[in-house]
Amino acid sequence: MDAIGALRRTHNCNELGPDQVDSEVTLMGWVLRRRDHGGVIFIDLRDRWGITQVVFNPEHNGEVHAKAHRLRSEWVIAVRGTVLRRPADMENPNLETGTIEVMVNDLRILNSSVTPPFPLDEDIDISDNLRLQYRYLDLRRPEMAANLQMRHTVVQAVRGYLNDNNFLEIETPMLTRSTPEGARDYLVPSRVNTGKFYALPQSPQLFKQLLMIAGMDRYYQIVKCFRDEDLRADRQPEFTQIDMEFSFADEEEIMGVAEGMIQAAFKAGLDIDLAPPFKRMTYEEAVRRFGTDRPDTRFGLELVDLTDSLRECSFKVFRATIDGGGVVKAINAKGCADFSRKDLDNLTDYACRFGARGMAWIKIKEDEWQSPITKFFSDKELTAMGDALGAEPGDLILFGADRENIVHQVLAELRLELARRLKLTEPGTYDFLWITDFPLVEYDEGEKRFTALHHPFTAPAEDQLELLETDPGRVTSRAYDLVLNGNEIGGGSIRIHRKDVQEKVLSVLGIDPQEAGDKFGFLLKALELGAPPHGGIAFGVDRLMMLLTGADSIRDVIAFPKTQKATCPLTEAPSSVARKQLTELHLRPDWKETS
Ligand code: AMO
Ligand code: AMP
Repeated sequence: MDAIGALRRTHNCNELGPDQVDSEVTLMGWVLRRRDHGGVIFIDLRDRWGITQVVFNPEHNGEVHAKAHRLRSEWVIAVRGTVLRRPADMENPNLETGTIEVMVNDLRILNSSVTPPFPLDEDIDISDNLRLQYRYLDLRRPEMAANLQMRHTVVQAVRGYLNDNNFLEIETPMLTRSTPEGARDYLVPSRVNTGKFYALPQSPQLFKQLLMIAGMDRYYQIVKCFRDEDLRADRQPEFTQIDMEFSFADEEEIMGVAEGMIQAAFKAGLDIDLAPPFKRMTYEEAVRRFGTDRPDTRFGLELVDLTDSLRECSFKVFRATIDGGGVVKAINAKGCADFSRKDLDNLTDYACRFGARGMAWIKIKEDEWQSPITKFFSDKELTAMGDALGAEPGDLILFGADRENIVHQVLAELRLELARRLKLTEPGTYDFLWITDFPLVEYDEGEKRFTALHHPFTAPAEDQLELLETDPGRVTSRAYDLVLNGNEIGGGSIRIHRKDVQEKVLSVLGIDPQEAGDKFGFLLKALELGAPPHGGIAFGVDRLMMLLTGADSIRDVIAFPKTQKATCPLTEAPSSVARKQLTELHLRPDWKETS
């Protein structure tokens, strides 16, 4: 191994071009590839910025060339050499530095590397677990480095935008108290307060409201949030929000600032000029037409309600569903009448994964409507169906019959699956949609009570305070979500700033005054002490970056993410701890110790 000595890097590995030809430069980085071309050795030298080809020629410098023979993948080296123009037929148009190479005069080996557990220069399928276990190697790959680079650029642009708009960046506690509602908390036991626990914040929601009461007027924070939820491709147990709150602002002002921020993010990240205002749709319309409150509106395949036209039909499954208060809805999969039996079975299995009990279908052929169930419908019913769905020869109709929420869930997922199969979306299209007029609460059949659709601090529509007393299920809230290509990237609301209204909403949620006082006393008190009208929004940075980079999972835009089981294969967190630590925390384990 060589000392770095007085050697100083003059350029990064993505910087050299025709302008530097004949100059003496020093580069440092990792050996990506080594090619031995009949004596001459070519190394692709890589750093965060890119790749430069460096050349060891025995005729130019025998000693250095001999040393280069030892180099292997991922060794760390410094080279001093002369920039040469490559012969025209040796140029590499795929590299920024592809018109030059560096003829090496001095090579220092700064560190060696054992053979990496996976090659970094090929696009092979590496298991997610291995990638996470050796995340520092995975992050050396140019795609991953580019993701982190873009994340940095976007976050800086967002900060700049918010700073320019009079927001103060203020930090809020990570050790806070557990509050009911929302996801499961991550708890932290207190050593000095026996039997008491902190919770890691699910979001800074109450603190940002308190900051408005404190007169900070406009607050933001780019902040970690923690939720102990079941994980998916777009969910992590710890994730980052761009969190903001405004005083004296209404929905229009908040949505306008948020649009400007997203515009700045897209300009910085992709050099795309978005043109707000973004489209808007009510919750009711989104659910009715697309089965979900985060519809991907880049394609049709809308849900069509056939319940009324099939009320009298003799197909038992539909009839029983409708008689039982359920619904029958369908999607017209345009041009899919040639789906094979296997395709249909496949789709049916897919639908069943989301709660369907089956997936009836009809193929619209030139001369007939092909399906085992056509015979159960009258001509009038078939005509009504065909008209409602705009059915034409070549189409395939897919049905869902069940309770409304199940039909919506199933058809919403089928819609996305069909769009994937039919490749209905173009990469690089960005379809923004605000969803507004959410219900304030929804009835939880399991818990037999109302729960907040957003969170319990969301304001009801101003003219519906009376309805809150009489029929809470029909009250709309002043919440809004921003959806991008079918992903919820942000959500917020105007908040309740009156103590009496907050108490009322808590009671609708089945939280009695005693419990409300225990859990939210500090908020209720603050609302009595001059709370200004306020509202805000929070964006999921990881989701936003997943969409900006085109990654498949938010894991690809997070430096050190967790697995589906909320573990970190690199550090092996979570881990067991010494019994002494537990004792200090006044915890007595009732699990079998594994080590
Ligand atoms: P909400 O719970 O909607 O609102 O969260 C805001 C945004 O955060 C992102 N997000 C997640 N991203 C990755 N993994 C997760 N587990 C995860 N959960 C949420 C989503 C979501 O739109 N305090 C309120 C905001 C407010 O009312 O101002 C809140 O946290 O993109
Ligand atoms: P069956 O009479 O059970 O053989 O079902 C006839 C067709 O209806 C099959 O294609 C089933 O997949 C479909 N089917 C059954 N239950 C439902 C349902 N709840 N919604 C939609 N289609 C269904």
